[in-house]
Amino acid sequence: MEILKKLIICAFICIAALRVLVHAQSQSGFISIDCGISENSGYTDKVTGLNYTSDATFIETGVGNNILSEYKSTTLEQQFLNVRSFPEGKKNCYTLKTAPGEIKFFIRARFMYGNYDGKGKVPSFNLILGADVWDSVELEDASPIVTKEIIHIPKRNYVCICLENTGSGTPFISVLELRPLSNSTYQTQSGSLLLYRRWDVGSTTNQTFRYKDDIYDRIWTPYNSQNWTPISSPFTVHTRNIFQPPSEVMQTAIIPENGSDSLQFSWEPSDPDYQYYLYLYIAEVQNLPENQIREMNIFTNGMNFIDAISCEYLYTNTLYSAIPLLSEEKNVITINKTMNSTLLPILNALEIYRAQEFPQLLTDQQDVDAIMNIKSKYGVKRSNWQGDPCAPQKYLWQGLNCSYDDRNLPRIISLNLSSSGIDGKISPDISKLTSIQILDLSNNNFTGPVPDFLLQLPYLKELILTGNKLEGSIPAGLWEKQKDNLLSLSVHENPDLCPKASCAKKNKLIIPLLEAAVSLCILLTVIATLWGFKRRKQGKTDLNNNRSLELKNRRFSYSDVVKITNNFETVIGKGGFGTVYLGYVDDNQVAVKMLSPSSAQGYKQFQAEVELLMRVHHKNLTTLVGYCDEGINMGLIYEFMANGNLEKHLLGDNEDILSWEGRLKIAVEAAQGLEYLHNGCKPPIFHRDVKSTNILLNENFQAKLADFGVSRVFLAEGGTHVSTTIVGTPGYLDPEYYISNRLTEKSDVYSFGVVLLEIITSKSVVENNSDRTHISQWVSFMLAKADIKNVIDPRLQGDFNLNSVQKAVEIAMACISPSSANRPTMNQIVNQLNYCLAIEMARKKVRNEIELKESIEMISSDLHELSSTGR
Ligand SMILES: *[C@@H]1O[C@H](CO)[C@@H](O)[C@H](O)[C@H]1NC(C)=O
Ligand SMILES: *[C@@H]1O[C@H](CO)[C@@H](O)[C@H](O)[C@H]1NC(C)=O
Repeated sequence: MEILKKLIICAFICIAALRVLVHAQSQSGFISIDCGISENSGYTDKVTGLNYTSDATFIETGVGNNILSEYKSTTLEQQFLNVRSFPEGKKNCYTLKTAPGEIKFFIRARFMYGNYDGKGKVPSFNLILGADVWDSVELEDASPIVTKEIIHIPKRNYVCICLENTGSGTPFISVLELRPLSNSTYQTQSGSLLLYRRWDVGSTTNQTFRYKDDIYDRIWTPYNSQNWTPISSPFTVHTRNIFQPPSEVMQTAIIPENGSDSLQFSWEPSDPDYQYYLYLYIAEVQNLPENQIREMNIFTNGMNFIDAISCEYLYTNTLYSAIPLLSEEKNVITINKTMNSTLLPILNALEIYRAQEFPQLLTDQQDVDAIMNIKSKYGVKRSNWQGDPCAPQKYLWQGLNCSYDDRNLPRIISLNLSSSGIDGKISPDISKLTSIQILDLSNNNFTGPVPDFLLQLPYLKELILTGNKLEGSIPAGLWEKQKDNLLSLSVHENPDLCPKASCAKKNKLIIPLLEAAVSLCILLTVIATLWGFKRRKQGKTDLNNNRSLELKNRRFSYSDVVKITNNFETVIGKGGFGTVYLGYVDDNQVAVKMLSPSSAQGYKQFQAEVELLMRVHHKNLTTLVGYCDEGINMGLIYEFMANGNLEKHLLGDNEDILSWEGRLKIAVEAAQGLEYLHNGCKPPIFHRDVKSTNILLNENFQAKLADFGVSRVFLAEGGTHVSTTIVGTPGYLDPEYYISNRLTEKSDVYSFGVVLLEIITSKSVVENNSDRTHISQWVSFMLAKADIKNVIDPRLQGDFNLNSVQKAVEIAMACISPSSANRPTMNQIVNQLNYCLAIEMARKKVRNEIELKESIEMISSDLHELSSTGR
């Protein structure tokens, strides 16, 4: 089809932020570790002035080694003279605490083998960051330095970097460096950034630049090719944006060699799914005469990255895109001169990063803090007590057990410190492991009483204290729990402990405390009621308070429902299933869908929806607040979606027409909801009734998928489809499914494609004429006959980026391919729609950036006047 044209990417130009951050060239927040040197032998590096410390305080395992003298060349940086190696254990971890308020970091690990172990055989191993593999370290030889660098936002106030033995030799490390970074630099749509290339092109000296030339301590490597001609300036190149590349790097540049009009470089991704972020640094290094201009167009994989960019004399321009470059077999960056340009294109430096996700959840922070305290207090020496306690699961700490599911952070559910030679009292830190079920402290030398705080562990069901030196009696509450079969308690072989319920100590404190707790409760209830009353009177409802709604996801009685709806006062919708009423639960507006007993949506569908929504939570799926199931009174209580369904906004004769950007946002969100059902749920769920009336919009026009009455959990293992009776809505129904009766995720994709066509065209799915023309037929007809501009809702009056629309039509048409094999997955659709949205938003953004640039120029000319007159 002709419309399958390449789309054009717009880049965002990062023009100087108005507030240019004045960074003192301090090492504040830097952590510079020379691995393997002895504890107090830190030093200041002669070349960089960086203060390196020993790694002894950051890690408990491993041994320090010297590299062999034949590798100690005079130019070798001091940090590489020693390494720490890890002959023991599968995983060894460094824990680096970060300073409060710091969010984003460069993390750099460096390796040089230098035959430190005399074996002459380079190992390979993995680096783990948090709970996920960061990268694998592959060395070619004993002397090359391998550097791994990542821009990462840690999930905790510390960074855990582990070396994993993969069975190919002993892991080791030479240097570990952490540099804080402004959160507004190097932003991605998602994921962290692995450094792929950082080149100082045009350099003639072969010198590497880093701190102090680079305030972030990036390492800029010189790179040249014979296709390029180096040019340079002796003058400082200024930077007015947060990326702040060093002047030394910017002073050298390349232009094409004689006979060529363009600069080009390329690389072949080892995986076609890799996504790259590109940062190009350009600055004019020649003071151009009036009649000369240097202007260029930049293309990535043949697509427009930026048009007609020219650069200022001795000022850095950083060009990058907020969206990743989609990889092809070979990624090609081309910088051409424009027609009007009298000079060849220029490039001073570049960085390429690859996006990488770190999806694994880390252990709950409170559990981590508690277990770390227990570890240090009792001096627990277990070789694998390193890194995160629960994650990844294969490196679960010995003696722990954790709960794992896809949605919640792992929690410690059992702790076994049996026979660990521990003495001292039972630490209150144990009471902070609030999810613990099994606690085994047997066969140690624990002294002191059996503490009351063990009673506060709500899930504790097995407590083993045998073989210690505990004293006194046991809290009565523990005996009671045992009597009620809530706890298995083992306390024998403690000579000074009374092992009977009869001598249990009644804690005198409990009663006053209980009283205090009760009165506090009453007080709080009164306050809460008053507060609620006041807020209701003011008519303020906290619609964003869905979290509290979610927590109360529960069963209501019919009389509750009567109260919630104020005796079914306000009807907000009607359908074949029954009526929808407005209601209030804890001051939050809700929609109460009451099933009429004669409803076609039978009890089974009602049950299916309750079960599914109780289990599945996602920001783009409607939230079930509760349900009522009392004889013939069946009702579902949802969060209230103030803006109703999508169809109403597309077809109705509303004054307010949804903008193209607004439509794309809704499309992306609905797609995300569906994507979650397909890929985020295990087993996957098929919605089976995707249509514009089942996409609801809240007060902020956030889209949520609704109506899961006919959804199916896909249980067949290994297979790719299920056979079911056909359900769905005419016009949205996948023809392949209709014919074959085989349901796959692609049936939802088909229906979504139809919705997407509605979003683009604002036309009915089936036209109300004698032909009953389907929207897809109409669109195909229009595309064949006229162009894309006739397909989009004419009321938008051209206020959109045509490429974005074109791409969206392309996606929709792919979704409704007759053969399900040719339809994209929801994951691909989400990515592609995000792309469309980014293009549309870039259109507006570029406009804003240009305005910003003008205001900066005004300010800098003002400043110039000031400084020339103010002498
Ligand atoms: C080239 O320069 C001319 C004269 O300044 C201008 O009118 C024209 O728009 C420019 N062309 C492009 C492609 O920028
Ligand atoms: C705790 O560990 C010891 C030794 O490994 C073992 O014998 C004991 O059964 C464990 N306790 C529990 C509750 O599993």
